Amino acid sequence: MELSLYQAQLSANHTHLFIPCPTVIILCGPSGSGKSTFATRNFPATWILSSDKLRGLISDNERNQESNKDTFDLLYNLLDTRLRYKRTTIVDSTALRVQTRRKLLQIAHRHDFAVLLLLIDAPEKLCRERDAARIDPPPVGAKVVAEQFKLYWEIEKTAQKEGFEQVIKLNQHEISNLQVEIVPLSLEKPEQRGPFDIIGDIHGCYDELCELLNKLGYQLENGVYQHPLGRRTIFLGDLINRGPKNLEVLRLVSAMVKTDNALFTPGNHCYALYKYFQQPDSVDSNNTCEWIERLSAKEYVEASELINALVKDAPPYMILNRNKLVVAHAGIEDHMIGKLTTRIFNFCLNGEILITPEGNKQRKNWAENYRGKPLVAYGHTPTTKLLPEFRNNTVNLDQGCVYGGRLSAMRYPEMEFIQVNAHAAYVERKKRGV
Ligand code: UTP
Ligand code: MG
Repeated sequence: MELSLYQAQLSANHTHLFIPCPTVIILCGPSGSGKSTFATRNFPATWILSSDKLRGLISDNERNQESNKDTFDLLYNLLDTRLRYKRTTIVDSTALRVQTRRKLLQIAHRHDFAVLLLLIDAPEKLCRERDAARIDPPPVGAKVVAEQFKLYWEIEKTAQKEGFEQVIKLNQHEISNLQVEIVPLSLEKPEQRGPFDIIGDIHGCYDELCELLNKLGYQLENGVYQHPLGRRTIFLGDLINRGPKNLEVLRLVSAMVKTDNALFTPGNHCYALYKYFQQPDSVDSNNTCEWIERLSAKEYVEASELINALVKDAPPYMILNRNKLVVAHAGIEDHMIGKLTTRIFNFCLNGEILITPEGNKQRKNWAENYRGKPLVAYGHTPTTKLLPEFRNNTVNLDQGCVYGGRLSAMRYPEMEFIQVNAHAAYVERKKRGV
């Protein structure tokens, strides 16, 4: 099982919990709810940061509340270090204090890690009984357990809004029977080694796309463009909007993706169209989808089905050729590669907008600071230069075809550019910072 967006899932019969990796998992529940038992049963020992174990390491006493500050400083430090190594980590503490949860979230977000909060649910009576029966570590006492439950019930109400990527509540039956399965994100496609032809923003420039595919050596067979040497196209998103033949582009790309002749990663315009069909009012005027209104009823349904199939499970970026190549519509920062959060999803589709000291909006020039090993191929920001631009192991393949520029492909691994000129300037280039 593969997950493209960060989403932990309980199997239908609640026997398995699939968790995308890498991630931070925060266990949260009162003493005796079964957090440590669950953690040790389901994860390798080195993945678990247990506050009790750290108290023991510091002071030979797992219940020594006097060592709390040092214990949690150590825990935060270890979490920070593990995340620097991109290691999935389980935090086993009660996590009942909001300050603790905030600090853990802060550290995880600093490393662009998704955080899953697992609420470990248990009846208070059971926790009291388990606590009373404890020898090592000794009981925390019924009063403490009662206080913990007050906090826990509050968290059940607020957790969804605290900034976790996902919150899942597990009951005692699930905790004792569940098997955790760590699943890789579908961003990583090491087996996809190319050769590729990576194509930048198309924006409805269908005629130019056909011309480019012909120039690259693709041939139409049974209505699908295929390369006789088995090359695959990678579409970098923004297939549609602004240009003249949007539905035609959607058909062409969908047919290639469906038959495994192409890979696709969505851009902001693709995503806007996908959202448009779900909720037409949700789309902002910058991502204009007005061509949709001019389609016949049959074409409207067709466009909706095509974009839905393309975008629904598409990864916001892909890691290809054994980590040597990354493709993302708007680009990606090096520390984001291999991870997935809502922030990363938005960055890959839209880039990041910064406000200049003068108060103007400007796209963050992430490529300027990119120091990663994989080559990043991206589009989104049309350039007026004749050739795609390399910068710090990144290459921008958007030559603004829809504005009268060029449609560009980069052959990979050959690193050659094949281009066609726009047949017209379909829209005027906007003079804007974003
Ligand atoms: P844990 O030690 O797993 O609880 O179980 P916890 O939530 O981590 O507690 P704190 O916060 O560290 O204090 C508590 C007791 O309950 C038993 C364990 O063997 C342990 O003695 N237990 C746990 C069960 O009997 N069944 C379970 O499913 C889980
Ligand atoms: Mg414990």
